[in-house]
Amino acid sequence: MNILVTGGAGFIGSHVVRRLVNTYPNYHIFNLDALTYAGNLENLTDVESASNYTFIKGDITDVDFIDALFVEHKFDGVIHLAAESHVDRSITDPMAFVKTNVMGTVHLLNAFKSVWQDNYKGKRFYHVSTDEVYGSLGKTGLFTETTSYDPNSPYSASKASSDHFVRAYGETYGMPYVISNCSNNYGPNHFPEKLIPLFINNIIQNKPLPVYGDGNYTRDWLFVEDHARAIDLVFHDGNNGETYNIGGFNEWTNLNLVKLLCQQMDEKLGRPTGESEKLITYVKDRPGHDLRYAIDSTKINKELGWKPSVTFEEGLAKTIDWYLENEEWLSSVTSGAYQAYYKKQYQ
Ligand code: NAD
Ligand code: TYD
Repeated sequence: MNILVTGGAGFIGSHVVRRLVNTYPNYHIFNLDALTYAGNLENLTDVESASNYTFIKGDITDVDFIDALFVEHKFDGVIHLAAESHVDRSITDPMAFVKTNVMGTVHLLNAFKSVWQDNYKGKRFYHVSTDEVYGSLGKTGLFTETTSYDPNSPYSASKASSDHFVRAYGETYGMPYVISNCSNNYGPNHFPEKLIPLFINNIIQNKPLPVYGDGNYTRDWLFVEDHARAIDLVFHDGNNGETYNIGGFNEWTNLNLVKLLCQQMDEKLGRPTGESEKLITYVKDRPGHDLRYAIDSTKINKELGWKPSVTFEEGLAKTIDWYLENEEWLSSVTSGAYQAYYKKQYQ
């Protein structure tokens, strides 16, 4: 099987590529990535010379290139992760999200449709999406697969739109697809613009920890390798035309999460207890900030036997260790354009 993974040089994509390359020697894994600021081939040095792996630099919004690529490789399966993924960036530049997340996804669907000419036996298009399409929960309740879409940010609106297109191609053209909507991921190789890696980097550097609003926003956190395992399972065993919610049953308010992170970092850095917490700084809230996300992952548990394997305390400790052991990675991704982004976003 020729499998195309898009966005495989990014955070989640790199864990998915590694897992597939190592687990399925009889598949050929093609990793298509534009290497935007969020893509980094350093994430995949351990598999780059595997005989069942090929990296292709390219943009999913380049329609001619995408069409030619599908004609050349006749991908049996697509696992689509390439996206603009950061809510704050979507607030300052929504069009980039429309272009990649909506139009890029539709280009891939068209190319997949065109190459298989509606003869889809044994083929599958897997769209990796987010729980943010469901909007915000109040203090109680969980997102299930039947929760109505109600996106609030340009990012979640673009992901919701791409989910709808994938579903529509299934209904209209009989394309075999599967979608998963996952909660917030964390772990190694996470670009330090998102909460956990940004705060790890700032703690290392003794810089302020910018908590938006009062910090009482809640997210459901999942270790990235558990997500990659779920993606593998859904790709192979999920039912066509179905959606699977993936989450950790692991809710934390931002403030409690940051306190735990500070505590673990103090221990690992040999700082006095409470030292890193002093860096917490309350800053202007994010516009349209969703109060709470929480996933009900009963369906994937019951149908596919998946559940998270790593507790949050363990996963966070592993994550911090990775950043402390990979300071070169961290300093290379936080030089140059990152400094300009940081200044614009936080000062
Ligand atoms: P990321 O930003 O770390 O990686 C995205 C990757 O896509 C990068 O390697 C980037 O270079 C590539 N890319 C961006 N635009 C492209 C284009 N036009 N053409 C080709 N490649 C392009 O994102 P991530 O956190 O790894 O998320 C991956 C996917 O999972 C996204 O679709 C995201 O919506 C979804 N998701 C993420 C989370 C999360 O917590 N991070 C949770 C649920 C779902
Ligand atoms: P983020 O990692 O951007 O993920 P998402 O917005 O997709 O959930 O943010 C997680 C939570 O942390 C969210 O409630 C916003 C908050 N946050 C801060 O308080 N400060 C920050 O600097 C960042 C990046 C996020």
